[in-house]
Amino acid sequence: MHELVPSGVSELSGFPRVALGHYPTPLEFAPRLSGLYSPCRIHIKRDDCTGLAFGGNKVRQLEYYLGHALSTGCDAVLSTGAVQSNYMRTLAAAASKLGLECHIQLEDRVSGKSDLYHRSGNRMLTELFGAHITYCPDGEDEEGADRMVREIAGKLEADGRKPYVVPLKPTRRPLGALGYIEAARELQDQWTDQELGPDLIVVGSGSGITHAGLLFGLRLLGCDVPVMGACVRRNAELQGPRILSHCDRLSEMIGAPGLVRADDVWVSDHSFAPGYGQPTERIRNTIGTAAHLEGLLVDPVYSGKALACLTGQLEEGLLPGYQSVIFVHTGGTPALFAYQDDMFAGTEPRR
Ligand SMILES: Cc1ncc(COP(=O)(O)O)c(C=O)c1O
Repeated sequence: MHELVPSGVSELSGFPRVALGHYPTPLEFAPRLSGLYSPCRIHIKRDDCTGLAFGGNKVRQLEYYLGHALSTGCDAVLSTGAVQSNYMRTLAAAASKLGLECHIQLEDRVSGKSDLYHRSGNRMLTELFGAHITYCPDGEDEEGADRMVREIAGKLEADGRKPYVVPLKPTRRPLGALGYIEAARELQDQWTDQELGPDLIVVGSGSGITHAGLLFGLRLLGCDVPVMGACVRRNAELQGPRILSHCDRLSEMIGAPGLVRADDVWVSDHSFAPGYGQPTERIRNTIGTAAHLEGLLVDPVYSGKALACLTGQLEEGLLPGYQSVIFVHTGGTPALFAYQDDMFAGTEPRR
């Protein structure tokens, strides 16, 4: 029913891929935002506009996970994420589109949140797409979460189904990063057409799949523009080795050894504190600035924190000499609705 379509990137032609998104996503200049950081010019790669179910970076990643799933003849997909996971929302939507049963395990990673957090935004959409939702305890323990989701997969197997688990564990093959190897090509074509010559690319870095794919993809093209990963899930000390290990696995998968070295992995946790899914006043201000100046929506967990990581460092003079920056907008905007309490903290609703 849904055909597998090969990638346009020759190195990826052996990996099954199913088309889910709308490409190319725009690469746009943000003139009013850039005005705050002159002479630096900021362009935005609009991967919030990948199309499926409010878009975002997970669409490109799922094209490869679900391509692989379909090639194994699976009829159900399973995975784990935070209550407000964009990934789980996108997986549930893609499963609907492909006619696959979807099982989502949610982890309560952010304590003390209101009913809105537990019911609206991505959580509501995941349910709307008809996913079967279960809960598991909070934790950094990706192996434990994968194990629990595999137990559900085991029960499905016992019922004669063919489940496919989209893994969390960083030691699994980072198939989703192939989507960002493609995106690297798309982005380079766009900046060449627009005669930009970027000197820095900034992207949110959580599981690290997007960051690693983009970095690896650019180096595969022979492009040495630095890629800064803005930490959103864990600090830089933990995130750096994770990115390198994804890149090493990509080298094995594609047969391009030694493409990314440790000193080429740049991660910054400038705007990560106090932790995953916890926006500060500065993050709220960044979200407001993007909205007021550019009509651009970024979210409190991922794209808003990543943008704050860039603009905060520009403001503080920590990125001297960078004059042409591409910010990769990875989406996440449904979480804005779940974070209304944080967005409007201390203000009375106007009626
Ligand atoms: C909106 C958004 N941006 C960025 C990220 C980070 O991407 P990755 O997990 O590939 O590092 C995520 C991950 O969930 C996300 O949902």
